[in-house]
Order: sequence, then structure tokens, then C-alpha cells
Amino acid sequence: MTDVAIVGAGYVGVPLAQVFAEAGRSVLLVDRDAERVAMLNRGESYIEDVPSAALKHLVDAGSVRATTDYDELRGAEAILIALPTPLSKQREPVLSIMTRAVDEIAQRLRPGHLVVLESTTYPGTTREEILPRLEASGLKVGEDFNLAFSPERVDPGRSDWTTKNVPKVVGGITDACTDRAADLYGSAVDTVHRVTSPESAELTKLLENIFRSVNIALVNELAQLCERMKIDFWEVVDAAATKPFGFMSFKPGPGLGGHCIPIDPFYLTWKAREYDFTTEFIELAGRINENMPYYCRSLISQALNHGKQRSLKGSKVLVLGVAYKPNIGDMRESPALKLIELLQAGGADISYHDPHVPRLDELDLQSVPLAPDEVDCVAIVTDHAGIDYAALVDSTAVVVDFRNATGEKGRTSDTVWKL
Ligand SMILES: NC(=O)c1ccc[n+]([C@@H]2O[C@H](COP(=O)([O-])OP(=O)(O)OC[C@H]3O[C@@H](n4cnc5c(N)ncnc54)[C@H](O)[C@@H]3O)[C@@H](O)[C@H]2O)c1
Repeated sequence: MTDVAIVGAGYVGVPLAQVFAEAGRSVLLVDRDAERVAMLNRGESYIEDVPSAALKHLVDAGSVRATTDYDELRGAEAILIALPTPLSKQREPVLSIMTRAVDEIAQRLRPGHLVVLESTTYPGTTREEILPRLEASGLKVGEDFNLAFSPERVDPGRSDWTTKNVPKVVGGITDACTDRAADLYGSAVDTVHRVTSPESAELTKLLENIFRSVNIALVNELAQLCERMKIDFWEVVDAAATKPFGFMSFKPGPGLGGHCIPIDPFYLTWKAREYDFTTEFIELAGRINENMPYYCRSLISQALNHGKQRSLKGSKVLVLGVAYKPNIGDMRESPALKLIELLQAGGADISYHDPHVPRLDELDLQSVPLAPDEVDCVAIVTDHAGIDYAALVDSTAVVVDFRNATGEKGRTSDTVWKL
């Protein structure tokens, strides 16, 4: 018998498995990717937040195991679903990965099972999409099995806030469902926060991500205004952040990245239409944030114009940092991809350097050594640690800095263009 089965062994599933296993629970990871399953069973982690040494220890102790076989779910006490919930090209929710998996789970559902959805989604998904599929098994929620939603709040690459110490929000279909899910998470994470329905729990996660998207859009818009007004916006953000209350610092950048913030808000936009409602903040933020790579391309173009009397076409541009955030190799939805595409379409000769991303298969590029004197312009897209940005400014003809990585030096140097 397994205590916890987790369907989807990705950025969410693997750290979750570690937390439960370290709390003394036996964990089964179920993934359709046989290669990932084999790696997990050898104690090799492909998720940066879970060190292989820690995983191997848990695998050797028999606390974590992985399989491709859904039949093994029958022997689990609880089934947690951590599967992707992407958007289509037309920005519509794609629930099919999750709903197909739930159909598989329904075939193995037995009395006593607890099922919890962890994937980010619009309010109503657990009740409208998951519940009927599970009840198609003939079992009844609240009587035969329990069902709840509990959003994952992992921030990849972060070590101060982890799956263990970030409070876990839980909302069940019935009170008994909430109790059961809260008890399970309470056995492994530090704090559980109950809400009265899965819809509240689903919207909690979306509110958190919409909050970020809207605030990032706000600073992205003001950064563009400041460029015209010749005000250093980074200095303004740092100054505003000295206010001890009522202000939270957000930084401008070349666009949104990661699995969550560029995608999740549009799950709510889509659902809101069912209620004749337009989520204007989300749409506006999306418009501003999605335009950032285009704006950044034009900044690079201007910088080359003024700094080197060159056009974008034919210039050698080195993109420094391509991951969607510093110090990790996560490329999901990275704005660097869009920016590189736009620069290439404009005729620039693009190379990139990123110590965390050796290859970009989608663009058929590989990371090159950082040799700024061999290019016309370096564009700092992701501010990884371990790079001497002051020395970079000294040895580069034109630097375009979208992250304020060059700090004071960039502020005073006339070869640096900042967002
Ligand atoms: N990554 C994050 O930072 C983060 C944070 C909070 C919430 N979320 C949400 O959590 C959910 C999962 O995201 P993730 O980042 O862990 O995804 P991921 O892509 O890292 O992992 C998903 C895993 O599911 C597996 N998979 C796909 N289809 C399957 C199937 N039918 N059966 C079994 N396994 C299958 C894949 O092989 C992969 O290993 C999403 O809804 C996401 O929005 C992600």
C-alpha cells in the first residue's frame, strides 16, 4: 500500500514527492514518460529544486518509487494530480491532459480514495470536470471517496520558500473532503489553510498569479514612459521600495516567463466569458507584457543606431541569459525565445551565452563563451549571478540591459541602454 500517489512527475510533482517522503510517507510517482520514471527509480533528479542525493536517499529507503502504470493507483491512499494545464494558441484552457488522466484514475477508483487536483485551473474545474468523471465510476463523492483542490505554489529555484514551508490552501467538495485533504497535507507541510470550496482554492491560485501579472505590466508600462522622460526607472522602483508599508516592489523586464504567470490569468478570462464578464485588468496586463519583447527589440535597434551607427540587420548581438529567471535553466515561456526570434527576423546575427542552458534546440543554437569584444551588442535578458557585469560594460561596444544588472555602472556609462 502506498500513502500518496502523485500523477505527473514534473516541477510540482517531484518536490511534492520529496516533502511527503521526508515526512515518512510512502510515495508513488506516476508519469507517462518512461525515461523520467527510470531516472527517478535510479534516484536521478531532473528537477533542479530536488537534489539527486536527496532523491536517491529516499529511493534507496523505499520511500519514493516511480511507475508508468496507472493500475498501481489502486493501492494508494491518496492520488494527487500535478499535470500540465496549458493554453492553446488562441489562449483557451487545454484540460485534455488532465481529463484523460482523470478518466484513467476513475477506472481504478475505489472506496476510501482521496483525490486532490494540484494543477492550476479556473474556478469550477474540480466540480465540473473532475467530479463527474470520477463519479462515472459509480462511486459517490463524500460517501465513497473524497475530492479536493489544493494549488501548488512552488517557485522553482527558490530555497527560502519551498513546498514544505509555503502554506497549503485546501478546499474540498464537502467538509469531509476538505478535512481529509487538510489532514494529509498537514502530515507533511508546515501550514494548511482551509477554504470552504474547491472554487475558492482554485481562484486563490489565479488571484496570486494575476496580481503578479498586473503589477509587472504596471512597471513595464512606466519603464517605457521613463525611457522617454529620461528618468532611471530602476532608481524609482528602489526608492519606492524603501516605503515600509503599502508598496510591493515589482521589476520591469523583457516579458513574462515560466509556466504560471503568462498562462494562468487567461484561464479566468476564459471562464469569466461564461458569466458575460470581461476581465479587463488581465487583458490589459497581457497586452503590455506581451509587447515587451517587441519593445526590447526596438531598444536594441536604437542602441545599435546611436552607439555604433549600425542597423539591426547584419549586427552581431549576443543575448546574455535566456532562462526565464536568474540562476536556473528553466526555459518555459522564456521571453528570450520571442526576443531572439524577433531579432533574427530583423536580420541580426544572434548568439547567446547562458551557463544554465547549454542548448536551445527550438532555435538550433548553443551557448557560446562570453566574448563581448567579438559582437556589436550584448543584450542582458536574464541576470544570472556569477557574471562580472561591470567588466562586461568595459569590454562591450553597446550593452542593452533589461534587468538593471549593470547597476550604478550602467547608470553612468554612455554605452549602456537600460530598460
Ligand atoms: N512549475 C511551476 O512552477 C508551477 C507552480 C505552481 C503550479 N503549477 C501547476 O502545476 C501543474 C503541473 O505543472 P508542472 O510545472 O509540474 O508540469 P511539468 O511539465 O513539469 O510536469 C508534468 C509531468 O506530467 C507528465 N505527464 C503528462 N501527461 C501525463 C499523463 N497523461 N499521465 C502521467 N503523466 C503525464 C509529464 O511527463 C511531466 O513529467 C500545472 O497546472 C501548473 O500550472 C506549476
